[in-house]
Amino acid sequence: MKLYTQKLNMGCPAISMSVVLIWLFVTARVGICVSARLMFGFYDNDCPRAESLVRSTLAANVLFDPTAPAAMLRLAFHDCQVKGCDASILLRSTGRITSEMVSDRNFGIRRLDLIDRIKSTLELACPGVVSCADIIALAARDAVSLTGGPNIQIPTGRRDGTFASNLAADALVPPATVNMHDFLQVFNSKGMTVAESVAMLGAHTLGVGHCVSIINRLYPTRDNTLGFGFGGQLRLTCPTPYPAFINNNTFMQNDLTNVFFDNQYFRDLMVGRGLFSIDSEVANDPTTSQIVSAFAQNQNLFFSNFASAFVKLTASNVLTGDQGEVRRNCAFVN
Ligand code: HEM
Ligand SMILES: *[C@@H]1O[C@H](CO)[C@@H](O)[C@H](O)[C@H]1NC(C)=O
Repeated sequence: MKLYTQKLNMGCPAISMSVVLIWLFVTARVGICVSARLMFGFYDNDCPRAESLVRSTLAANVLFDPTAPAAMLRLAFHDCQVKGCDASILLRSTGRITSEMVSDRNFGIRRLDLIDRIKSTLELACPGVVSCADIIALAARDAVSLTGGPNIQIPTGRRDGTFASNLAADALVPPATVNMHDFLQVFNSKGMTVAESVAMLGAHTLGVGHCVSIINRLYPTRDNTLGFGFGGQLRLTCPTPYPAFINNNTFMQNDLTNVFFDNQYFRDLMVGRGLFSIDSEVANDPTTSQIVSAFAQNQNLFFSNFASAFVKLTASNVLTGDQGEVRRNCAFVN
């Protein structure tokens, strides 16, 4: 506990003073630092079933939609990427707020209804207690373990933001065409190692992509990092580069086993079956290629890097303490 609270603290001045002080603060459960930090079991007193209700609601849904976990995992990334993990992605356009969902970068974000369902369940159990931001993070965490990935403990206590802008999403969510430097920057800025950054991209072991995300690789010329047969397949699936003619309902699996969280994604990358350009790039760039091949050979190594990276992702830039609010309806500020 002590170790984790040190690692996870964000923007809390007293933390740097000394380990002893931190210990005192945590033990006494007083002081500005404690109220302004994520902690394990944040809901243990006020909503003891919070985490299990998130998990059971998601688990029940996975039976009907085995691709729901993929949607939850990507949602968490896109939420955390814009102004921290504050559920800003769920806010609808009203007044000064313009929904992040308007941004092209959020093309394909889906199953927001499932977050609403979890929220309703929690509002019944403990009204006004569990934030939408924590629900997103917990649902993503459970999405991983429910599909065969690692069990990850994450601290809670995130608060919901009160503003959203589609322009912020345009600026901060990386596009499918992101280059290696910018890709590494996204995760390095959250304190991740290169291996953890590659592990994050391993989230593409789940889910699907659409033609709009890959036409840059197919037209006017074919990206030569695509395996020959695979590239041909993609061209058949996405036969036109013209946005107005692209069928946005057509989708492709992110890896061969896209309802299981495993290291198949990395095995696919090794044989030229990366779907988005950044997928192929991590397999080919000398900075990351050895990590890709290590993950392809050793699933546990992928899992442990993913787990530590996920904790960092979901702790980045969060609102805590009395910042923000706990939204009653995830789509609107209170
Ligand atoms: C710079 C890094 C990343 C880029 C450029 C990227 C890009 C994309 C793109 C273009 C799609 C497909 C959108 C579509 O066509 O429908 C996608 C899907 C997905 N991404 Fe990423 N991604 C990145 C990092 C991540 C991270 C860090 C996670 C989670 C931790 C993640 C999880 C997912 C998942 C699960 C899907 C499938 C979603 C579904 O089936 O609905 N991605 N990503
Ligand atoms: C498909 O989605 C893209 C991106 O949102 C959009 O530009 C395009 O017009 C859509 N195509 C069709 C046929 O709806």
